[in-house]
Amino acid sequence: MWKGRFAQDTSSLVEQFGESISYDWRLFPHDVAGSIAHARAQKNAGLLTEEEFSQIEKGLKEIEADIKEGKFEFRTSLEDIHMNIEAELTKRIGAVGGKLHTARSRNDQVATDTRLYCRTQIDNINAGISSLQKTLVEQASKYAGAVMPGYTHLQRGQPVTVGHHLLAYVEMLQRDRGRLNDCRRRLNISPLGSGALAGSTINLDREAIADELGFDGVTRNSMDAIADRDYIAELLFIISLCGVHLSRLSEDLILWCSSEFGFVTLSDAHTTGSSLMPQKKNPDVCEITRGKTGRLVGNLMNLLVAVKGLPITYNRDLQEDKPPLFDSVDTILMVLAVNSEMIAAMEMREDKCLAAASDPMLLATDLADALVKSGVPFRSAHELVGKAVGESVKTGVPLDEMDLAAIDPAYTEEMKSVFSLSTALAARTNPGAPSVENVKREVERWRACL
Ligand code: ARG
Repeated sequence: MWKGRFAQDTSSLVEQFGESISYDWRLFPHDVAGSIAHARAQKNAGLLTEEEFSQIEKGLKEIEADIKEGKFEFRTSLEDIHMNIEAELTKRIGAVGGKLHTARSRNDQVATDTRLYCRTQIDNINAGISSLQKTLVEQASKYAGAVMPGYTHLQRGQPVTVGHHLLAYVEMLQRDRGRLNDCRRRLNISPLGSGALAGSTINLDREAIADELGFDGVTRNSMDAIADRDYIAELLFIISLCGVHLSRLSEDLILWCSSEFGFVTLSDAHTTGSSLMPQKKNPDVCEITRGKTGRLVGNLMNLLVAVKGLPITYNRDLQEDKPPLFDSVDTILMVLAVNSEMIAAMEMREDKCLAAASDPMLLATDLADALVKSGVPFRSAHELVGKAVGESVKTGVPLDEMDLAAIDPAYTEEMKSVFSLSTALAARTNPGAPSVENVKREVERWRACL
């Protein structure tokens, strides 16, 4: 492509070192769409005849079809997807193919392709998250009334329901989707026309190109447009955070399916056995999800470090943006799909959850609240209940069977009514609290919104 200036061929080692076609071939549908829009603008500017434009459009569409069918032979010597397609076009339609690159550089071309790729994948990830949310909502509905302990510091804290616990993840995932939409809106502007860094002396209609490609507008500074990889960093962050959310869900499920907890049964189809211990049933999907999150975070770091020292505008380092991007997109889509399938098939062991929540200690806070309602300041109530708890631990008499009035006259006999799980949950009716009614209402709200 640049033979004019060079007297020597590229070393084959440099060719192998610098190629990106082994991974950026995946940009081909976007590269073709971008080239067709660019060629149409050339035609409208009088740079191509109708006939020439048709030849270019037809040639590009045929190349796209061949790549889709696996019939296209990519050449490492042509470095990347942009030059592979352009060279093949010229081979197929002759010298007119050489007109396509007028008023364009691979720098604005790759920026365009990558934005289009990100946009498509944001929509796919959004759909993947949405179906995982739907799965969680249906399980939350099934277990809306199933009482379980809620934990802080991994110590039993207060009773909640399985439904409330699962809906917590639906909230997190909804924030991930909000961030995806925000990122999509910000990235959806067309860099085409920025050229190598300084635009072109040949002015094509940038707005028309942007329109054809579904962009909402055009970039306002050619240098920024070429140097900018913010949208990739944003997307890699969003994917990382979504991975972190799913990693925390995985950790909950790993604990829940241990013999120590026994709260959930994962299906045989979503667990694996041991090659040595015949009794084992392992939550590998959860563990791999947790493990892959390290990779997602690593990909974000990879890009940030690659970009941090680069003077604007284009530097070849930027070619390193795509392996972490593609890897994170592939990984999160797979993680979402497999988790959705696994969670749809899991069964909660409601008896075990209830038994774990049945320790009256979990209602110690409710007892303090009862003292508060009778006029005791919360700090004093906390201390009084703390004394009762200490007594219970020392004597082994359960909190709900103790003679509380003997500890302090502030206690009354009716206060023992707090030691009922159904009363405790029914009392938690404020928005966001885990009463069964609230969970059912939230399930309906999510069903409508998803
Ligand atoms: N393969 C390159 C990349 O992904 C395309 C842009 C090349 N531009 C250049 N000036 N060498 O970044």
